[in-house]
Amino acid sequence: MEYKQAFSNTCIFLSEINDPGKVASYIPELGSVDPTKFGVHLTTMDGDSFSHGDSHEKFSIQSIAKVLSLVLAYELEGEKLWKRVGVEPSGTAFNSLVQLEHDRGIPRNPLINSGALVICDFLVDHLKDAKQTFIEYIRKIANNDSIDYNKKVAESEKAHGYRNAALINLMKAYGNITGNCDEVLDFYFHLCSIEMTCAELARTFMFLANDGVDPFSKERIISTEKSKRINTLMQLCGFYDEAGEFSFKVGIPGKSGVGGGIIAILPEHFSVAVWSPRLNEKGNSYKGMRFLEMFNQATDSSVF
Ligand code: DON
Repeated sequence: MEYKQAFSNTCIFLSEINDPGKVASYIPELGSVDPTKFGVHLTTMDGDSFSHGDSHEKFSIQSIAKVLSLVLAYELEGEKLWKRVGVEPSGTAFNSLVQLEHDRGIPRNPLINSGALVICDFLVDHLKDAKQTFIEYIRKIANNDSIDYNKKVAESEKAHGYRNAALINLMKAYGNITGNCDEVLDFYFHLCSIEMTCAELARTFMFLANDGVDPFSKERIISTEKSKRINTLMQLCGFYDEAGEFSFKVGIPGKSGVGGGIIAILPEHFSVAVWSPRLNEKGNSYKGMRFLEMFNQATDSSVF
């Protein structure tokens, strides 16, 4: 089935289903988001795009931002990065501490919270002003100067971020955090607070569907090899202890966030962003996962 018909059919079906998910409330500012919001935006390599519902309303991208901080850190540090963080799926929740002591402070991968904190530590250490440099980097990739942090969300998470404080202090104890824990946490909470619309998110991630090159500006963001490796990490680790289910049912690289967003890409073809704030028990958008499962089956879009 071609994209337009499958997109429309799937959006209509998903708009009507019962959604058993719950909005994330451990970050109080996210708890007040309208749970009925539902937006989808698909951007194709040919420049076509399809939009549905609340796809032009900004939302907190949360862990989706970890992919972009990883891209910047990987570009700056290269293969040395993997001395501090692994490339293995964790099979645990995104904020789990369980493996960190066993692995002596080395996170399994850069997409779980512990791994993203190591990436943030590297960026704070290597950049004069990590927050400003990072948001300018995102705006450049997205070709959109309106993209920004939501300071209220960042402060709301900072006031309740005990698990992340535990993660970073445990890694500091093992010598895998070089900077000041509070400074790194502040950068991390701001990074997670970045807001985008589904349309902006789909556009931003198109370079990863095109071997590291923005198909519209023709600018190279990262090398082909690094782009493929980032996609591999999204495939294996992007949904934490639901990564297997996502690969099994959807079959393309993707990344979720507790704001209810999911970005997914079919290399050489498209990127698609979905936003529905109600999360399943693994912390991934219930409707977002269902949309991608149905759309990819209808369009036979799998990397396998
Ligand atoms: O650190 C946290 O818990 C949040 N700022 C991000 C977690 C997240 O988005 C997990 N993805 N589903």
